[in-house]
Amino acid sequence: MRFLGPWILLKGLLLSSIIYSSVNAIDLDLSDEQSIKNAASTTIYAMMTYYKGNETGHIPGAFASKWWEGSALLMALLQYWHFTGDTTYNDELRVALEWQSGDDGDYMPANYSSYLGNDDQMFWGLAAMMAAELQFADSSTGFSWLSLAQGVFNTQVNRWDMNSCDGGMRWQIWPYESGYTMKNSISNGGLFQLSARLARYTGSDTYSKWAEKIWDWTLTTPLMSNSTWNVADSTNTDNDCATQGNTQWSYNYGTFLMGAAYMYNYTNGSPVWLTAVNGLMNQTFDHFFPESNGGIFEEVVCEPSEVCNDNEILFKGLVSSWLAFTALLVPSTYDTILAKLQTSATAAALSCTGHNNNTCGIRWYKSEYDGWIGMEEEISASNIFLANMIPYVSKSPVTSSTGGNSTSNPTAGENDTSSDTTSTTTITTGDRAGAGILTAIFIAAWVALMGWTVMGG
Ligand SMILES: *[C@@H]1O[C@H](CO)[C@@H](O)[C@H](O)[C@H]1NC(C)=O
Ligand SMILES: *[C@@H]1O[C@H](CO)[C@@H](O)[C@H](O)[C@H]1NC(C)=O
Ligand SMILES: *[C@@H]1O[C@H](CO)[C@@H](O)[C@H](O)[C@H]1NC(C)=O
Ligand SMILES: *[C@@H]1O[C@H](CO)[C@@H](O)[C@H](O)[C@H]1NC(C)=O
Ligand SMILES: *[C@@H]1O[C@H](CO)[C@@H](O)[C@H](O)[C@H]1NC(C)=O
Ligand SMILES: *[C@@H]1O[C@H](CO)[C@@H](O)[C@H](O)[C@H]1NC(C)=O
Ligand SMILES: *[C@@H]1O[C@H](CO)[C@@H](O)[C@H](O)[C@H]1NC(C)=O
Ligand SMILES: *[C@@H]1O[C@H](CO)[C@@H](O)[C@H](O)[C@H]1NC(C)=O
Repeated sequence: MRFLGPWILLKGLLLSSIIYSSVNAIDLDLSDEQSIKNAASTTIYAMMTYYKGNETGHIPGAFASKWWEGSALLMALLQYWHFTGDTTYNDELRVALEWQSGDDGDYMPANYSSYLGNDDQMFWGLAAMMAAELQFADSSTGFSWLSLAQGVFNTQVNRWDMNSCDGGMRWQIWPYESGYTMKNSISNGGLFQLSARLARYTGSDTYSKWAEKIWDWTLTTPLMSNSTWNVADSTNTDNDCATQGNTQWSYNYGTFLMGAAYMYNYTNGSPVWLTAVNGLMNQTFDHFFPESNGGIFEEVVCEPSEVCNDNEILFKGLVSSWLAFTALLVPSTYDTILAKLQTSATAAALSCTGHNNNTCGIRWYKSEYDGWIGMEEEISASNIFLANMIPYVSKSPVTSSTGGNSTSNPTAGENDTSSDTTSTTTITTGDRAGAGILTAIFIAAWVALMGWTVMGG
């Protein structure tokens, strides 16, 4: 992921021209399964109006300036199909999840691989993992879902970086990228989660050992504490990970929580993992479901001041899904989590009253439409609605011994040696200057593109 300054400005411009309207609420009755399905159907439809990947001249699964977000859209479609049984979007879903897998089956497609972060690739790995766990049948041609998750795992553990901080994943893959010197929670917590899910699905301790290794390393850094359960955003290799950037984002908590829930379930109820689950869950609720705002899910750093960028708007949606699966994998958390999901879904539905067509806003706690509009808003609303389907569709993610049949390839992705740590070179001043120029050109092109889109729309 990258910093998204210009897009925020453009969104601001769009907002100032919006005429507020609030008729047509999404009528959500959480005690009625069909009502939840209908709500999700409405927001998923709105989400798909932003998706052009199945049209002539467009590329399946690709969002040029925000590649990782394709994975968030596809995860919403997977859950939509799983929880509602509606197959409307399954063909597009299958094609896109396969299309972006790249030549080596590890979500490092050549069109985008030169400016990806470990977190970007990781999220696509989680999407493939979810496809395997929800029994979305493998494609008859191309890579299996499980092998794609394994491909991401294999390429990422090859990048485990011992040159600083005694280990850890860097945020970015390439030395010329801004953010390369950081080791951050989402990249490490994301690979932790992927490893834990692969361990549970395959039963192989190769993955659980890595999950434990990443977890233990994280606790030696300022990224996470096992006494306070604070999860920071980042730490820096320049001072050997001595200090933390402690901005509080829900997805950093959520990804470690989800991984710990899988480890709890995989270890058949280890008390150590249960303590971690409870500690992280408590902190997630304390920070991001403030009682002062009705106990409704809120991205507290950016929502009150309305400065959430597209990435940040998606965090609540990702975490809503992770909470739902945590409730299934750690039954003692079920009641607590479901109550929080219900309060937030009710509020989210009240925010979906924009433009006389059920457009959803960002700030669910306002319980009315707040003027924002975008694909990300629709993804997060969809996910909170779908998370409330767990009382009706309570089947847990499967494993290879409980009905999962996605084909395994433990060496997937190993043909891709492009970004092994052994081949990454030490950063030089020339590289930094070059990267700055590339970034400037990229941002200029992007602003031009967005500007054109806005004018065109
Ligand atoms: C709802 O209306 C807004 C404003 O006209 C439009 O931009 C948006 O695409 C519409 N959404 C749907 C799902 O039609
Ligand atoms: C793309 O999928 C949408 C459904 O989401 C459908 O309405 C549209 O016709 C499809 N377009 C093409 C070119 O297949
Ligand atoms: C890469 O870009 C080419 C040219 O636009 C396109 O045909 C291809 O589908 C793209 N591949 C991916 C994985 O996005
Ligand atoms: C794997 O399971 C899925 C979902 O149950 C099913 O649709 C598919 O046919 C199965 N594939 C094989 C090869 O058995
Ligand atoms: C907490 O983390 C520290 C640092 O890694 C470790 O030494 C300790 O054993 C952990 N405590 C528990 C209860 O897991
Ligand atoms: C693991 O998840 C399954 C499926 O939800 C659940 O039935 C089981 O009780 C969980 N295991 C433990 C130890 O809680
Ligand atoms: C989480 O919160 C509950 C309820 O307040 C408390 O009983 C429990 O000890 C907390 N667990 C951890 C690990 O912080
Ligand atoms: C790796 O490359 C070899 C030789 O080209 C090929 O046979 C094999 O299928 C490739 N493996 C994957 C996972 O792409």
